[in-house]
Amino acid sequence: MSRQVRAGRIFPRRVLVLAGLVAVATTVAACGGSAVREAEGGGDEGPVKLGVLVPLSGVYAPLGEDMNQGFDLYLDEHDGKLGGREVELVTVDEGEGPQTAVPAAEKLIRQDRVAAVTGVVSSAVALGVTDLFNESKVPLVISNAGADDLTGEASSDYVWRTSFANSEPNAAFGPYVADQVGDGGVYVIAADYAAGKEAMGGFKETFEAAGGKVAGEQYTPFGETQDFQPYLNAIQRSGAEAVYCFYAGAEAVAFVKQYKQFGLADELPLYSAGFLTEGGALDAQGDAALGINTSLHYAPDLDNPTNERFSATYQDRFDEEPTTYAVASYDAAAVLDQALGSIDGAVTGEAIAAALGEAGEVDSPRGTWRFSETHNPIQTYYLREVRKQGDGYTNAVVRELEG
Ligand code: BEZ
Repeated sequence: MSRQVRAGRIFPRRVLVLAGLVAVATTVAACGGSAVREAEGGGDEGPVKLGVLVPLSGVYAPLGEDMNQGFDLYLDEHDGKLGGREVELVTVDEGEGPQTAVPAAEKLIRQDRVAAVTGVVSSAVALGVTDLFNESKVPLVISNAGADDLTGEASSDYVWRTSFANSEPNAAFGPYVADQVGDGGVYVIAADYAAGKEAMGGFKETFEAAGGKVAGEQYTPFGETQDFQPYLNAIQRSGAEAVYCFYAGAEAVAFVKQYKQFGLADELPLYSAGFLTEGGALDAQGDAALGINTSLHYAPDLDNPTNERFSATYQDRFDEEPTTYAVASYDAAAVLDQALGSIDGAVTGEAIAAALGEAGEVDSPRGTWRFSETHNPIQTYYLREVRKQGDGYTNAVVRELEG
């Protein structure tokens, strides 16, 4: 069934979720110039308060909805508990950038006094809020934003990620695209912010190492580009034989539809990391997306028993196929479940961060994974193809991509 049809169905956006919410006294102490904070609900028993920072508005709002659904599903499957503790969720709007997200994150930490936060779609936001989390010693379990440094050179005790690093799905795709395109050049085009730049960087590194040539490169203003025609003209004039791009959410819909309308889809194959054709974006793109090949660590038809069960339950519950955003958020709940379950004593940010460091394998719909030393999932990437399925569309797994 198509998600446009399903979109008419309204799932309540839960700000405070789950039974048995109790107000718990908050203790604040000062120590060595940095605030050592005890989370509300951070005692030995009672509900644990968690923050959810996802876009409820802007270009990436549909991704935020999928992330909420993934987290909610995990909670529902575990009687509303993580680590045996009831959970109270406080959801705030990430919006389109740090200008919205930083005050929202500050509210979660200082006013709501949550024990940990999950979510964050945009790399620009992730880069803008991590100091806040590190300084206040509140763990941030990122369930989308891929900014490379956060689990690379700038990795830290309080930042964890259940999704991917931006360069990874693109680097995994470079050799395949080089092989497909042969001597023809590839035009690279992406949203002009950290994620787009890192995605293209990851792609170009392995693409060029495999003999591929870049025929042109362009970055489009993020969140402001509705008309891609001038860029499509430049692609056509470049003589490229294929296009590699990074777009997600509403920008992915506009780019793919205009690529088709302009006539390029029949001339130049379009490649991308899987965000281009994911979830609601794919439903809105419709036939314009058919045949597009992407690289990602998840697809609804991935063949493993956990995904078989998860994918069926998710479709029953939300009447749509699960997405990578929902899976990363489902897995964020799973790692918090592991961490909270292993804490013997008060639930503080320090205790959660230490427990995340001891987390074992995650039995995920994407296949079993675990954190790397810098807190990023170690996982497999797959070649996917957009195909028709019933009266809708899907990203079908073609095969594993080699490292
Ligand atoms: C990012 O900003 O990191 C991002 C946003 C949407 C999809 C993938 C990555």
